[in-house]
Amino acid sequence: MPVPPRPPVCGVGGVTATNEVPLTRPLALVTGASSGIGEDLARVFAREGWDLVLVARNGEKLRALGAELETAHGIQCLALPADLSEPSAPEAVWKALAGRPLEALVNNAGYAVAGSIAEVPLAAELGMFQVNVLSLVALTKLALPGMLARKSGRILNVASTVPSWGATTPARPSSSATPRRSPRNCAAQA
Ligand SMILES: NC(=O)c1ccc[n+]([C@@H]2O[C@H](COP(=O)([O-])OP(=O)(O)OC[C@H]3O[C@@H](n4cnc5c(N)ncnc54)[C@H](OP(=O)(O)O)[C@@H]3O)[C@@H](O)[C@H]2O)c1
Repeated sequence: MPVPPRPPVCGVGGVTATNEVPLTRPLALVTGASSGIGEDLARVFAREGWDLVLVARNGEKLRALGAELETAHGIQCLALPADLSEPSAPEAVWKALAGRPLEALVNNAGYAVAGSIAEVPLAAELGMFQVNVLSLVALTKLALPGMLARKSGRILNVASTVPSWGATTPARPSSSATPRRSPRNCAAQA
């Protein structure tokens, strides 16, 4: 990924290993950076010389990754533990940037609730939608105006291809009392 022109300098409100160094590198925010695809993407950004805001629930993992990337690449990482199933989390995450321009937003945090729609507790389904969809939309709406005003920025939404398989089939009573497997349920059970 090519590094764009350097954005204006402005401090990030948080603890970094090298707070006294002026922040002149582009900044990327990666949600779900504590493991998997998000962690890998954070490593790619760091290798390309970007500063990072790392978001997930597991603060210990984020701090360890941030310290490792700072040491290896001379960048700055802010580990920002946040639960994106909380509706207030996107705004709190955004405030932690303290006005520093965001050059890249990676909406990666997400998961699938396993089990049949009929049996999974509503709260679990709603929490998943909050993380996978609503927080993604909220962070996008927070980041986009500044990017448009600066005519600079990029947003990457990491998602599943499962929704493109088509509409799910509602579960219906059957003589065997076994609900049909919808594409979504197939994915959750895979
Ligand atoms: N791997 C695949 O084959 C695949 C396929 C299709 C789509 N995807 C999508 O790709 C994205 C990443 O998947 P992955 O395979 O890398 O999964 P993963 O290894 O399980 O990583 C998920 C990340 O999301 C974070 N997360 C989960 N719940 C969160 C919450 N409530 N608040 C904040 N962060 C939360 C996790 O961190 P904490 O637990 O520390 O919060 C973790 O960092 C997901 O959106 C997934 O749906 C993956």
